[in-house]
Amino acid sequence: MSQVTTPRASAATGSQAGLPRTLPLVRVIAMPADANPNGDIFGGWLLAQMDLAGGSLATQRARGRCATVAVDGMVFHEPVFVGDEVSCYGELIRTGRTSMTVRIEAWRRHLPSDEARKVTEAIFTYVAIGEDRRPRRLPPEA
Ligand SMILES: CC(C)(COP(=O)(O)OP(=O)(O)OC[C@H]1O[C@@H](n2cnc3c(N)ncnc32)[C@H](O)[C@@H]1OP(=O)(O)O)[C@@H](O)C(=O)NCCC(=O)NCCS
Repeated sequence: MSQVTTPRASAATGSQAGLPRTLPLVRVIAMPADANPNGDIFGGWLLAQMDLAGGSLATQRARGRCATVAVDGMVFHEPVFVGDEVSCYGELIRTGRTSMTVRIEAWRRHLPSDEARKVTEAIFTYVAIGEDRRPRRLPPEA
C-alpha cells in the first residue's frame, strides 16, 4: 500500500515553502457552496474558517467561552478555488487580562499537484467572557 504524506510531514521546500510545521487548527475542502458568483471561493467563508481556527485556540487558553472582538490586517494574497484543501494555522501571540491575540494563516493545497500556498493572514483578538457575556479574567496558564 502506498503511503500518503501529509503536508506537515513533507519538507517545507519547493511547492510547500513556508508551510507551518504545526498541525492545522482547521482543515476543510472548499466546496461549490462556498464560492462567490464568479465561482471562486468567497472571502467571507475563508474569514469564517480563520475565525473558527483562532476561536478554538482562544477557547482552549481561556478554558471557556470567548467572543471575537477584532480582526486586524486581513490580507488576501491569492484566490482559493473549489476543491482546494484549506488549512488554518495559528499561534497565540499575546494575552492580556481578558483578551488573547492570535495570528492566523490560511493555506490552500491543490490536491492533484500537492502544491501548498499561503493565501490569507490576519490578527484576531478574542475576549474571554462569562455566562453574562461580559469580559472574564483569563485563568492561569495550564
Ligand atoms: C467582547 C466584549 C464582551 C468586550 O466588551 P468591552 O466592554 O469592550 O470590554 P473591555 O473594554 O473591558 O475590553 C476587554 C478586553 O478586550 C480588549 N479589546 C476591546 N476592544 C478591542 C479591540 N477593538 N481590539 C483589540 N482589543 C480590544 C481590551 O483591550 C480588553 O483587553 P484586556 O482585558 O486583555 O486588557 C464586547 O465588545 C462584545 O460583546 N462584543 C461583541 C462580540 C461578538 O459578538 N463577536 C462576534 C461577532 S458576530
